[in-house]
Amino acid sequence: MSKPMIVCHGGAGHTAKDQPGVDAAADAGWAILGAGGSALDAVLAAVEIMENDPVLNAGTGGRKRADGSVQLDAAVATSDGRLGAIMAIEDTPNPVHVAAGLLDESIHILVGQGARDWADAQGYPKSPVEGSDSPSGNDTVGCVAIDGNGLMAVASSTGGCTGRPRGRVGDTPLWGPGLWIDDEIALAATGIGEEITIKMLCHRVAVQAGSLQQRLEYGLSLFDSSIEVGLIGITANGEGLGLANTGMPWAIRSANQ
Ligand code: GLY
Repeated sequence: MSKPMIVCHGGAGHTAKDQPGVDAAADAGWAILGAGGSALDAVLAAVEIMENDPVLNAGTGGRKRADGSVQLDAAVATSDGRLGAIMAIEDTPNPVHVAAGLLDESIHILVGQGARDWADAQGYPKSPVEGSDSPSGNDTVGCVAIDGNGLMAVASSTGGCTGRPRGRVGDTPLWGPGLWIDDEIALAATGIGEEITIKMLCHRVAVQAGSLQQRLEYGLSLFDSSIEVGLIGITANGEGLGLANTGMPWAIRSANQ
């Protein structure tokens, strides 16, 4: 038996005023874990809540592109070796569920209209996403969890960066920079996607030695302090943490919290 734990974040660059939505997400995920549910169900429930929170940059609150459109990215992965990712999808308020739908498919990544066509065929809800005009928007929402069976899961979702062109993809749905999971660690990143991608952030943190705190500190040390970056992580041996070089609402729930 493993000790269940969940860690959520509401995005690098956000402040304490956005903490309530992150706490609500962590509570929802923790309720699932506490009832014996899976880490996958817990991270999906948590990220769905944050996608539905209009102040956070994901789903309903996704930041608008330069042309006013809202294109969303999301990814989900599990420690038993499954991955699903969706990039630049439109008219999809909860892209995290579409990404999760790819976990057991023979393809793992779908983009743009092709992603929406696949979602339509599978029956995922389609409706316009109003999005947010907020000028602050380099961020993401994310969640990592471990359940009582020792399975870990990670899920991330974002509207990208405010004002970027249509079709632009940041780090969030990218396996390696934006998220990583193996049988020892689960990680999700937030911040400026171009910088995080170039640094291959999550994978580099995963292969570092040391405590989770030391590994996350290493990850942040790769960036100039002017570049907003944050990380959350969980390890199979019971560590859980969020760390950022800027404001980042985050929350942890476990039997000890
Ligand atoms: N980190 C979110 C993005 O750059 O798209």
